[in-house]
Amino acid sequence: MDLLQERRQRLRQVTERIIGLPSLPTVVTQLLSIVGNPASSARDVSQLISTDQALTAKILKVANSAFYGFPRKIATVQLAIVVLGFETVKNLGLSVAVLKRFQQGNDHPLFDRQQFWEHAIGCGVAGRMLARGRNRKLEGEAFVAGVLHDIGKLVLIEYFPDEFGEALDQARDDLLSIAEAEEQVIGVTHAQIGGWLAEKWKLPESLVEAIAYHHAPQDVEEPDEILIITHMANALTRHNRIGSGGDRLGASLSPGVAEVFKNGRDISDDVLLAGLSEGFREEIETARVFTDLEGELFETPGDNPTTEDDGGGAPVGA
Ligand SMILES: [Fe+2]
Ligand SMILES: [Fe+2]
Repeated sequence: MDLLQERRQRLRQVTERIIGLPSLPTVVTQLLSIVGNPASSARDVSQLISTDQALTAKILKVANSAFYGFPRKIATVQLAIVVLGFETVKNLGLSVAVLKRFQQGNDHPLFDRQQFWEHAIGCGVAGRMLARGRNRKLEGEAFVAGVLHDIGKLVLIEYFPDEFGEALDQARDDLLSIAEAEEQVIGVTHAQIGGWLAEKWKLPESLVEAIAYHHAPQDVEEPDEILIITHMANALTRHNRIGSGGDRLGASLSPGVAEVFKNGRDISDDVLLAGLSEGFREEIETARVFTDLEGELFETPGDNPTTEDDGGGAPVGA
């Protein structure tokens, strides 16, 4: 269809323009390259992070939260790196930077930013939990993949609010998944857009793949473990109704990924999801620090000072 083709082309052009910008703060780009270099030391990393006070404060806040459950106080970034490891600190930096990049934007009655972040952080927690049962080394990466998997929706709401709004309406009216509705209305899904963005940001290939194919792992010949985990994490988060991704559908599970987790057992998808959900809600509580962090990031400087955290629920609205 002409209209669809025209839209797809325009969207690609605009996305190319957005992703052509140096969207990630320099400190994070430098962080990624330092951590990727085997010759770098904890000292290099802590020195770099120390140049960014806001990042330092946020990393220490998360490092000291129940999410990591470390018994003693971690007072410096250097100690955080020693205790939590390079990988974790890098992943934290990345999550915080991306949350910050998309701190504000348009609204739509069917797209609740708060619900969106609950879903994203829920997926991160689910990913970390699933990685623990499969390959502990992947916990940090699985967390980031979960947090970022739907990042394409933030590009859509920010740069294509009308088209994305139309897709949201259609998903509701025709009981479609948001990805199906995007395909029909826009001709591209949030997964593809997120994949382009991740690629331009030079994120690791496993993250690019997990973001781009999280709704279609079957399209990848040999799916990476992070993709398998992220697909399941998304299903688990929907199954448990944590936040919302913009449609009202429950979990949709690719048969191939379900098989991996069933591991030869003759059980239904529902039984599988129920089994994997054990302990999920408790673990989400420990990740509350991220929801709070996101609340802080939403503040505009000099605007709306929020009250001190009283340990209560996440901020509402925005
Ligand atoms: Fe998605
Ligand atoms: Fe999702």
